[in-house]
Amino acid sequence: MAPLRDPVTITLDGEPIVAERGEPIAAALVAAGKLMVARSPKFHRPRGPSCFRAACDGCLARVDETPNVMTCMTPAREGTAVVSQNRLGPRQIDLLRMTDWFFPEGLDHHELFAGIPGVQNVMQAFARRVAGLGRLPAEGTPPRAAARRDADVVVVGAGPSGMAIASRLARAGRAVEVLDDQDAPGGGLTALDADDASSFSEIHASFMDLVARGRVRLRTSTIAGGVYGRDLLVSGPEGAEILLARALVLASGAHDGVLAFEGNDVPGLMSARAGGWLLRRGVLLGPRVVVVIPEGGGPFGASYARAMARATMQRQGKHAPTVTVVQGTPLRIKGSSRVKGVVVMTAAGKEEALAADAVLVDAPRSPAYELATQAGATVRHEPRGYVVVTDGGRAAEGVYAVGELAGCPLDAAAVDADAARAAATILSV
Ligand code: FES
Repeated sequence: MAPLRDPVTITLDGEPIVAERGEPIAAALVAAGKLMVARSPKFHRPRGPSCFRAACDGCLARVDETPNVMTCMTPAREGTAVVSQNRLGPRQIDLLRMTDWFFPEGLDHHELFAGIPGVQNVMQAFARRVAGLGRLPAEGTPPRAAARRDADVVVVGAGPSGMAIASRLARAGRAVEVLDDQDAPGGGLTALDADDASSFSEIHASFMDLVARGRVRLRTSTIAGGVYGRDLLVSGPEGAEILLARALVLASGAHDGVLAFEGNDVPGLMSARAGGWLLRRGVLLGPRVVVVIPEGGGPFGASYARAMARATMQRQGKHAPTVTVVQGTPLRIKGSSRVKGVVVMTAAGKEEALAADAVLVDAPRSPAYELATQAGATVRHEPRGYVVVTDGGRAAEGVYAVGELAGCPLDAAAVDADAARAAATILSV
């Protein structure tokens, strides 16, 4: 791990952990080897971060007395207190898992002891106490008003497609603001090896230049939470807003592909994109990392392996983690509270068992279409998920979709051409 520039101390269940000021809490926990940060609400299975983009809920914890905080999106500050949720006793043991011994087929708390006077009430009270998503906050948050504002062009997503279209529209004289829920722009590029991301450097540089010159307003750590009619609900460091944009451009990208296999929620199993994103931040995942690339997946797994190979050369092999890349499909994870290995059906049709401290899966990504359908867009189903249907970038009245959301591959030339098409449509209205 790279040395910290501005260290702060946070705690996980009271244990001090050194973190970089402002880095996502979950990244600091993984860097400290704390892969398991919670238990699942119902079955109390060990949970850990796996997506690092607010999409998996594996990183939920109580932070400074607020329950269910996504620690992958919350910056570390001096004294931040992180407490794991949904457990009885230490998070590594969780005494509630003993119920599995008595009820190996699971139990239905609606029926258990139902109808037995006295016992029924005790059982219900106990079930209510141990179920759910943590305890309520120590203090209530008073309602805050959302400011309403008109805008010219609002772009949701500062990944390659969002950056490309924002630059085109700003250069054409439009007033553009770009929202992104991450703490820095770049989207998927922030998870690629620097060499692999270099094909997008023109798009990135042009965008950052316009931001620096005030021609594009970039708002990071800002969430576009929903579209209601033409209103876009936005929440970020500046508070809540309702924006009515002349042109709403959705560039929300794609979700990491999630496959169904045994143990796919064991801490230490992550998307390859998440692994690459951590690596770009100097966070290593243990001495043995296995990257599994199913058919149609990429490019993050292979990019991760290239970045690690370069890091290994720079360290001249000293304490360098080994990365094994397997083309195939994961069948099951070994380990319960953290990954110990993975069994893969290789592309050659052979079952292979590999020891691992972390497993990265680079499954085909599924377009992040949710806002688009709220805004009235039509989607079509493909094996990887729902793709927004567009006509010259137009997805609905005043709403445009670009990039992976609309089926564009993560390729610099394709992204640029896609942005050019949508920008031309917007400028023609
Ligand atoms: S939601 Fe935080 S890691 Fe997935």
